[in-house]
Amino acid sequence: MSDMWNNVAPGWEANADFVDEHLAPATDALLDAAGIGEGDAVLELAAGPGGAGLRAAQRVGPSGSVVLSDDAPEMVAVAARRALGYPQVSTAVFDQSRILAEDAQFDAVISRHGLMFAEDPAGAVKEAARVLRSGGGLAVMTWGPRSMNPWLGLVLDAVGEQFGVPFPPPHVRGPFSLDDSALVSSVLEEGGLGDVHVEAVETPMHAASVQAWWERVPQLAGPLATALAAMEPDVREQIARRAQSAAAEVSREEGDQVVFPGSVLIGSGRAPRD
Ligand SMILES: C[S@@+](CC[C@H](N)C(=O)[O-])C[C@H]1O[C@@H](n2cnc3c(N)ncnc32)[C@H](O)[C@@H]1O
Repeated sequence: MSDMWNNVAPGWEANADFVDEHLAPATDALLDAAGIGEGDAVLELAAGPGGAGLRAAQRVGPSGSVVLSDDAPEMVAVAARRALGYPQVSTAVFDQSRILAEDAQFDAVISRHGLMFAEDPAGAVKEAARVLRSGGGLAVMTWGPRSMNPWLGLVLDAVGEQFGVPFPPPHVRGPFSLDDSALVSSVLEEGGLGDVHVEAVETPMHAASVQAWWERVPQLAGPLATALAAMEPDVREQIARRAQSAAAEVSREEGDQVVFPGSVLIGSGRAPRD
């Protein structure tokens, strides 16, 4: 899994500011849900280029600390480059299901679009709860339903239609593996958290054009980038045509841009109190 994400780390580095801008209001809601304030010690899991953790660093200020972690070393290298100038931020390479930290080290743990890739999401939540101080907050962001995120769903649909099978295959964890409020809620509760809440936040995606959208999305979606790179150019071209014609249907024009609907879920809970 980490090889796949290592391969797309350059695409994530090139698009990191775009992703952070796209998700800025939802990321603020994530930090609110985790209860992050000045002076807090924060861990970001599956941080990729670390956009959510860097936003948290601004909140915790110089008296706090933030660890940006991911199991893909190339992603962590991107995060480390982006964290230059933030003395309160450090980086670490580890899997979200085996956190390299002592118990009860953090006031808050956050994860933006990472928990859905865990083989055992409730086990990963349990592990995050282990490193939280008594009453500390965990907040996770996951993509809402595929139908409400056509900017990504359409590309996956176009690949699936090309080969006549669902993509990603049903047994593979993918971006929409935790796309339902009740599911996110039950994963957090099963992971041992109390005071569990899940909210939906709109995240419309802007692009200069449908063509610009098509060029950007495969650079970011790990499984998709791997699949597209392995295809013959004429097959990729057919998928591009199918995706772009479907995209024209669901996007709307706004000034000189096109806008796609988008929606995330933000789930949060508290570690048990001693
Ligand atoms: C969709 S990207 C999100 C990146 C970042 N959180 C953001 O929102 O900009 C998913 C990230 O999860 C990481 N990841 C996937 N499985 C992981 C695991 N088991 N442990 C830690 N990180 C993981 C990938 O390496 C990748 O950086």
